[in-house]
Amino acid sequence: MKILIVGGGGREHALAWKLSQSPRVKEIFISPGNAGTSSIGTNVLLDLQDHQKLIDWIHENQIELVVVGPDDPLADGLVDSMLGAGIPTFGPQKAAAEIEWSKAFAKSFMREEGVPTADFESFTDFATARDYLRGQKFPMVIKADGLARGKGVIIAKNFEEGEQALADMLSKKVFGAAGNTVVIEEFLDGHEISVHAFCDGETAVLFPPSQDHKRIGEGDTGPNTGGMGTIAPVPWVSEDLMDEIRDKIILPTLRGLKKRGREFVGILYPGLMITKDGPKVLEFNARFGDPETQSYMRLLKTDLADIILACIQHRLHSVPIEWEKHYACCVVLASAGYPGEYVKDIPISGLDEAESPNTILFHAGTKQDGPNIVTNGGRVLGATAVGEMLNGALDAAYQSVSEIHFAGMQYRKDIGQKSLYARTA
Ligand code: AMP
Ligand code: GLY
Repeated sequence: MKILIVGGGGREHALAWKLSQSPRVKEIFISPGNAGTSSIGTNVLLDLQDHQKLIDWIHENQIELVVVGPDDPLADGLVDSMLGAGIPTFGPQKAAAEIEWSKAFAKSFMREEGVPTADFESFTDFATARDYLRGQKFPMVIKADGLARGKGVIIAKNFEEGEQALADMLSKKVFGAAGNTVVIEEFLDGHEISVHAFCDGETAVLFPPSQDHKRIGEGDTGPNTGGMGTIAPVPWVSEDLMDEIRDKIILPTLRGLKKRGREFVGILYPGLMITKDGPKVLEFNARFGDPETQSYMRLLKTDLADIILACIQHRLHSVPIEWEKHYACCVVLASAGYPGEYVKDIPISGLDEAESPNTILFHAGTKQDGPNIVTNGGRVLGATAVGEMLNGALDAAYQSVSEIHFAGMQYRKDIGQKSLYARTA
């Protein structure tokens, strides 16, 4: 098979790495890819918004499978166009992906289906939203409806902060059209985890639980990022809890989407808060998480191409999916300034020294510049490692990190710490 992977982050490098191990896979193209993916396949710069041109390129190059990484192309109907042209593609169509690209849709869907989530109301008008907010108990959470790169969520400690967030979104349009509607919801207290499930429209198979670290600063402080590091599995998440998540969240969501003619094929990835009243959905994603996928690909034993084809062909039940019994982790190295403005084109050293039999560096914002590899994004690299014990995996990943240098490099030194010694939810 010749495969096209859409995207250029650590997630896509990890997917390319895993797919390249499949005996089914002959050649991989990645668009746009990064310096890491170019050692596995061919990076190609394609206009992902010009679906007809993309279809022509795919036919010319005899691509037999497209795997979509990021959220934007899903919201843009890329999968619909590919399937319309008869090209096998992994990822949900636009209507199913709405569970990610519209928080207002996701919230009312959950309310209708009885999927546990924070209490909420949606608004399009500033004055009405402000009046509603005035009577609430704080903290409250204000969310832009659309895709906003993880920045469209404000936890308001008091009315004034909430009012400011509403004004930014609804009046000043700081998130553009993504903020035309806002969701105001109840603040949930608890521990946050990421759950992923392979889905073929009807059947869902859950991955082991994982945990991202979304804030830039240690101890979960500072602004939200795309994700600064992950562990999988999460030691305190029991099998019973995963069964509850499957039965109360994943399966009702798949059924509810199908009932609405929005059959979901791809990865359903809810961000969950494990509260004292059980798991509740913070948000749905309709794709692989990043950096979760960088940890997950180190644990997946089964051929990923087999699983993806089974999903697309609606026969996921026919493929047994196996995971390594040990732990994996990923520590993200980011550019100075990230998640705000950051500089690029900084030379990176130590990449060879950072690799060991146990560690793999997945590239995110990197590019080849003559003989050098230089930074080319906010999140630059993900150091991944595995271990029988979580702390062994973490030690190995941080050993790898200690070899890498680029000016202004920042990373969190506490990835996994909050779950390392926790025993129970
Ligand atoms: P989201 O993009 O909806 O996942 O929100 C980004 C981050 O904000 C989440 O990862 C949580 O840490 C936090 N968050 C979102 N919604 C809530 C909520 N209702 N209560 C507490 N924290 C939340
Ligand atoms: N890990 C955060 C995300 O993929 O959205």
